[in-house]
Amino acid sequence: MMVCEYKPGLEGIPAAQSSISYVDGQKGILEYRGIRIEELAEKSTFLETAYLLIWGELPSNEELKAFEHEVRYHRRIKYRIRDMMKCFPESGHPMDALQASAAALGLFYSLRDLHNPAYIRDSVVRLIATIPTMVAAFQLMRKGNDPIRPRDDLDYSANFLYMLDEKEPDPLMARIFDICLILQVEHTMNASTFSARVTASTLTDPYAVVASAVGTLGGPLHGGANEEVIQMLEKIGSVENVRPYIEHCLQTKSKIMGFGHRVYKVKDPRAIILQGLAEQLFDKFGYDKFYDIAQEMERVVEEKLGSKGIYPNIDFYSGLVYRKMGIPTDLFTPIFAIARVAGWLAHWKEQLAENRIFRPTQVYNGRHEVTYTPIDQR
Ligand code: ACO
Repeated sequence: MMVCEYKPGLEGIPAAQSSISYVDGQKGILEYRGIRIEELAEKSTFLETAYLLIWGELPSNEELKAFEHEVRYHRRIKYRIRDMMKCFPESGHPMDALQASAAALGLFYSLRDLHNPAYIRDSVVRLIATIPTMVAAFQLMRKGNDPIRPRDDLDYSANFLYMLDEKEPDPLMARIFDICLILQVEHTMNASTFSARVTASTLTDPYAVVASAVGTLGGPLHGGANEEVIQMLEKIGSVENVRPYIEHCLQTKSKIMGFGHRVYKVKDPRAIILQGLAEQLFDKFGYDKFYDIAQEMERVVEEKLGSKGIYPNIDFYSGLVYRKMGIPTDLFTPIFAIARVAGWLAHWKEQLAENRIFRPTQVYNGRHEVTYTPIDQR
């Protein structure tokens, strides 16, 4: 067996062969099934992109209509799930609520027929359809309100925004939200996708796969960074405070949230698109001083850390967009999960196609032959 050098964080070590997405971190290129994200963001919808990722090809008109129809009519959640969620503490983080609810779905669909394409399709539809409903339901129930039923006449993104506050969203806002989902849906072998594939490799059910990935996405070094970006911008408060804040971070060796990426050494192409979307929102719905702070941050970070390849990542501008839409900060990461579930499911399906259970090794650096000391002699 070939022995590899130990790399913390498995940096640069392939964990799978995959044809789902491709990143060139030096050139700032991201493709889903070979199609550049810029093109998908302009021309596609979230559900069409999800189909592309999961089944490998763009759907025909009939295939897309059928998929949209199935997702639309599976949006409702079981009342037992809703009742379970009502018992969650309202102070709990929505990512924890989502993780628990996604895992609970598995209780209702415990049959695991992983070789049956109909089972795969049903699971994909159910997860993509119900995760937004669960996120919106927790948001309302933690405020003491009943959840709002999904509306069958609204598209995927418009329906989610509607379920958050019972107002039909502005069409531009709904379209921008849909593009955000396209940008967040998939990104090669990141921490949560790795987590999904490891769980999938044990041949457990897709609800456990998604629940484990949701848990991994929540951390501040991964999807949770978008929330921390807004907290950071609030703390900075003005353009004048940007430089001292960044200098302080560098002196204390603390990370500036929304900057840096294991793969991208240039500005994340998703951040470029999101910045444009943020500008469209500010043009239509009014100026936001956080945007000036953000731009100044980008300038100062580039000056100080550009030589190390530290530039804005996806989380830097996604927070600004969601904030302008009036979405509460702690829903940013659950929204990331709404999108990413389709990417995880594409990896689940790919993992099943050529499965081998993940069982890496370790470099043991502990002691040997240690004698047991009785408790009264320690
Ligand atoms: N602020 C300040 N310095 C940074 C930052 C940052 N955000 N990111 C990297 N650096 C510096 C490191 O201090 C290190 O410097 P050194 O070589 O002098 O020690 C160098 O750049 C390399 O950084 P690493 O942490 O080794 O890079 P790694 O690939 O392990 O980490 C990560 C990538 C986790 C994204 C990191 O950049 C980070 O913590 N960023 C802030 C959190 C964030 O925005 N996460 C979201 C990422 S996108 C996503 O997951 C969806």
